[in-house]
Amino acid sequence: MAKKIGCKCNFKNNLQKSKSINRLLEKHGNNLPPDVILDATSHKNLDKWETICDCNNRNKVISGARYHQTDWYLWSIKNLATNKKYRKKGLGGDVVSRIMVKAEKNKIPVIVADVDRSNVGSQRIFEKIGFKRVNKFCWKKGEEPANILHYVNYPPIGNKCI
Ligand SMILES: CC(C)(COP(=O)(O)OP(=O)(O)OC[C@H]1O[C@@H](n2cnc3c(N)ncnc32)[C@H](O)[C@@H]1OP(=O)(O)O)[C@@H](O)C(=O)NCCC(=O)NCCS
Repeated sequence: MAKKIGCKCNFKNNLQKSKSINRLLEKHGNNLPPDVILDATSHKNLDKWETICDCNNRNKVISGARYHQTDWYLWSIKNLATNKKYRKKGLGGDVVSRIMVKAEKNKIPVIVADVDRSNVGSQRIFEKIGFKRVNKFCWKKGEEPANILHYVNYPPIGNKCI
């Protein structure tokens, strides 16, 4: 049987959880600015995290991401990161899939994610799950179009909502 990579986390308290996610993002988050990391791991956002831990150290987060609710119907997936030592083992995909399950339970129909054009790994994760890429999404006039992936959980079929 293949060795299990990644286990359920077991944090003593929120402070430990916050510090562990902070470490993951600082070291493995692709140069996320400190203020972004601080906000992502602040008390108000901690319960929005989906995390996977080292099986021998259940308070060491090796992969994680969080969702941000921007409207009643919309979650945005943010701060996805996997420890460099554990990449390409399916952990990032697992984390995103878990957020999708949570979204479904909470009846959130639309989920979006911002992914950098050069981030092949992250694009692969979202595309494999079924996110649709919106290539010509523009924020500001005159700027290059952003490469944003959008996913609609329950797209309308025909003239009726399902
Ligand atoms: C992007 C990132 C989260 C991927 O995490 P991961 O745990 O390695 O992802 P997975 O193992 O679930 O990979 C899913 C798929 O993408 C592929 N993949 C992952 N990284 C890849 C890379 N750098 N190049 C090409 N393919 C890659 C995997 O092989 C896998 O494909 P498969 O299912 O066909 O085998 C990780 O590289 C990371 O933390 N990067 C730095 C932070 C970052 O960029 N976050 C994303 C912000 S949107």
